[in-house]
Amino acid sequence: MNQDFTVTPWDVSGTIDYKKLIEDFGTEPIDAELLDRWKRLTGDELPMALQRKVFFSHRDLKWLLDRYEAGEKFVLYTGRGPSGHTHLGHLMPWMFTKYLQDKFDAPLYFQMTDDEKFLFKPELSMKEAMSYTYENALDVIALGFDPKKTKIFSDLEYSKTLYRIAMEVAKRVTFSTARAVFGFDNSTNIGMIFITSFQSAPAFLPSVEAGKNIPVLIPQAIDQDPHFRVTRDIAPKLGYYKPAAIHCTFLPSLSGSDKMSASKPESTIYTVDDLKVARKKVLSAFTGGRVSIEEQKRLGGTPSVCAIFQYYYYLFEMDQEKLDQREQKCVRGEIMCGECKQELADRVVKFLEKHQEKREAARDKVQDFIVSDYSAVYDKLKRPQDKKEVAKLMKTMKEYCSAKEGEQISVKKCKEFK
Ligand code: TRP
Repeated sequence: MNQDFTVTPWDVSGTIDYKKLIEDFGTEPIDAELLDRWKRLTGDELPMALQRKVFFSHRDLKWLLDRYEAGEKFVLYTGRGPSGHTHLGHLMPWMFTKYLQDKFDAPLYFQMTDDEKFLFKPELSMKEAMSYTYENALDVIALGFDPKKTKIFSDLEYSKTLYRIAMEVAKRVTFSTARAVFGFDNSTNIGMIFITSFQSAPAFLPSVEAGKNIPVLIPQAIDQDPHFRVTRDIAPKLGYYKPAAIHCTFLPSLSGSDKMSASKPESTIYTVDDLKVARKKVLSAFTGGRVSIEEQKRLGGTPSVCAIFQYYYYLFEMDQEKLDQREQKCVRGEIMCGECKQELADRVVKFLEKHQEKREAARDKVQDFIVSDYSAVYDKLKRPQDKKEVAKLMKTMKEYCSAKEGEQISVKKCKEFK
């Protein structure tokens, strides 16, 4: 890998060269031909995420569309490692997934890898990870996914369903492969070595449930690709289709570099941020402005390095003409950074206000989306007495959701939750 940047499932840093990443990872670029086909197939304009190459790379997307045209519907699979609150960067691929669900009438399996985050983050308790599963699920639901076609699950709560598939995967992945793909060493805990098997499992779950091969498309940020390289390698050995993938770039941080990241809360906008705090974060962002107004008028700004401009580009200016105008005005020194920031801050605040409303409303819809091994049994048996099990699950979720930061799960509680 290039020395200037790192992209792995657990570390993304540096200035990322996405073209180089396509070569390094061995994925395929989403080219003009594929975009034309997409347009024809959906009978609609391309979504901005494709037009602007936010989704820029894929594996086997052509194959997936072939299957689709031959009448085989696909299932979407994506996920989240719940180690904290959701930020705007996380929403990007989820919004695109929502577009895919609508356009292709596709069911969605959404995995919360609370087990992975528990293993990876030394300071994160299991209870906290599970409480973030709940908190993050609210953000997913707030985006408007169809409850009839969407299943959200926590690994720790859906492990019985996933475990057998994960075992089939684990049996076929050697330590040497895991070490080469993920860069593990002797200090890596043994849970982490296994965890890719759990992330593979939902790619095969639709086929297991249907009793026949179902094509699966995995929308994901490109850092997750190593997992699915492993998944795709072993798929034929298990008799399944290789899952197809569509990859997106990262939303840059407000400080102007890297990706928006939980390790830099001051330049990251969370969906739960107080509106005043969010506004302040935007107003303190890094711009491509000059040292003085006089100089900016004379020389113009540099949108290509400006975090504010990136936010318009990725999420907050979907009108291409208006985005171009903004860029031109900046380059010509006709608009100052203060004005650009204020306008973005207004849009961010407006977006957050609406999202937070929907997020609150989602609290009453959680049971329509979250599946666990209790409700899997309930679904299957449809026996009224199993409602008790569902009530038990709801209680568990509520308990978890009330976890405070830093709180450890007690042995007593663990026993109660069994
Ligand atoms: N491991 C991912 C993360 O840390 C979460 C995840 C699980 C995921 N399954 C996925 C992401 C499928 C994309 C697609 O965020």
